[in-house]
Amino acid sequence: KDIKGEVEFKNVSFQYEEGKPVLKNISFKVKPGDTVALVGPTGAGKTTIVNLLTGFYEVEKGEILIDGINIKKYKKDSLREIFGIVLQDTYLFSGTIKENIKYGRLDATDDEIKRAAKIAGADDFINRLSHGYNTMLYEGGMNLSEGQRQLIAIARVVLAEPSILILDEATSNIDTRTEFKIQKAMEKLMENRTTFMIAHRLSTIRDADMIMVIDKGQIIEKGNHKELLSQKGIYYNLYTS
Ligand code: GTP
Ligand code: MG
Repeated sequence: KDIKGEVEFKNVSFQYEEGKPVLKNISFKVKPGDTVALVGPTGAGKTTIVNLLTGFYEVEKGEILIDGINIKKYKKDSLREIFGIVLQDTYLFSGTIKENIKYGRLDATDDEIKRAAKIAGADDFINRLSHGYNTMLYEGGMNLSEGQRQLIAIARVVLAEPSILILDEATSNIDTRTEFKIQKAMEKLMENRTTFMIAHRLSTIRDADMIMVIDKGQIIEKGNHKELLSQKGIYYNLYTS
């Protein structure tokens, strides 16, 4: 089957505040199924790129195309269904674990939910809770660890089967074993699916099909690990320092 999820930015500029440009004339094209790692210093514009792609903010200048169609032409709901988002601080709502995994796929059966949780590596810990899948989460899941919250978020994305994944790689507070599980689940999710990741770990950056080094709202280097190393530019310096 043919994979979807081609993404193109054409001369995209953006500012949150008048006179303070945050993205300056950004252009790039991503093939369906490829993995893109966005790297660069804090304030560079990485999150802004993702916020424009998902339609969280509207493009002012230039255009963003998904599978050849301007995102302004998608209906809000169908645009939402394109993306699966796993962020550092996962948003879970007050409700049961089951409801949290089902979010966005309300027609899912219990079997489908369990299967998604298994793929995400979340089924084991859920089964150990006294109420299993019916365990209530309070205040966005504060009765779970950060790693467990992320596994639930991953199960949600597995169930939703989006064509584009957005990952904001976690940096903190997750024990090695859970991190390994998250890593494995992510790898499965990323197979045959366009992925944008705001990456911190060198190992994941190295494997990306395209690394984009962002600085002050511009793409200053673009290529895979090997290509960027041989350019001996900023990525090379980041990597070898
Ligand atoms: P890190 O997440 O810290 O690594 O940075 P980033 O590369 O994701 O930067 P981001 O895209 O969040 O921000 C780019 C620029 O836009 C920075 O100068 C921010 O101060 C600014 N910015 C981000 N969000 C907002 C916002 O909601 N309002 C305003 N006014 N400025 C913002
Ligand atoms: Mg950011």
